[in-house]
Amino acid sequence: DAPSGPWGDLAGRRLVVSAGGTREPIDAVRFLGNRSSGLQGFALAEAARERGASVTVVAAHVALPLGEGIARVEVSTADELDAAMRDAAADADIVIMAAAVADYRPASAAATKLKKSGDAGLTLELVQTADVLAGLVAARRPGQVVVGFAAETGDDSGSVIEHGAAKARRKGADLLVVNEVGEGLGFGAASNTVVMLDSSGSPVGEASGSKLAVAHAVLDAAAARLD
Ligand code: CTP
Ligand code: CA
Repeated sequence: DAPSGPWGDLAGRRLVVSAGGTREPIDAVRFLGNRSSGLQGFALAEAARERGASVTVVAAHVALPLGEGIARVEVSTADELDAAMRDAAADADIVIMAAAVADYRPASAAATKLKKSGDAGLTLELVQTADVLAGLVAARRPGQVVVGFAAETGDDSGSVIEHGAAKARRKGADLLVVNEVGEGLGFGAASNTVVMLDSSGSPVGEASGSKLAVAHAVLDAAAARLD
């Protein structure tokens, strides 16, 4: 029942995309979070809808509206996002992890608001969250295309692309969309420049421009991998 978009190449296909950034509770009023705006994930959802797909967005703290006809599931923590993505991915053709998922959460969250104790500092104990993308790759159905994102910075141990290629091999997603983050790049910015790598770390495409343009390029690469 998905109306065909201008291209319609994803008509009859189901796509699920996560967007935004998770929040991990410290106490009743505080959390560990990140600066993800959700713009790229929402652009992917709008682009896929335009192309005729049936789209579900799993949104973590995104202060943006979605176009009509796109299903939206609200989550907060990495654990909630994990459960919602597993659920939505079960019958999806394309699964995209565009959300910024917290790598760590407080080992325990206080049910009440923490009080200062004199002039002492505070040490938080953190534990790793589940790797949602790894779980989706492990549960991948035959013919399903799983896409990850990676925001990288170059450093002494490697360039953005070198880090991206190592991550692509480690993650095993069909596509890893790598973008460079830093001043004026990535989070919250209107435009984006990305390189798409396959699971062996080889570049299979690149895109630069608005997040909607990048979204369409990512969908081109994902659609090319569908049966
Ligand atoms: N991701 C995930 N679950 C996590 C952390 C990340 O599903 N707990 C996903 C992100 O949504 C993204 C991909 O994994 O699609 C890569 O995220 P990134 O943070 O670049 O990689 P990490 O494996 O977390 O490695 P690191 O942060 O140490 O570079
Ligand atoms: Ca991470």
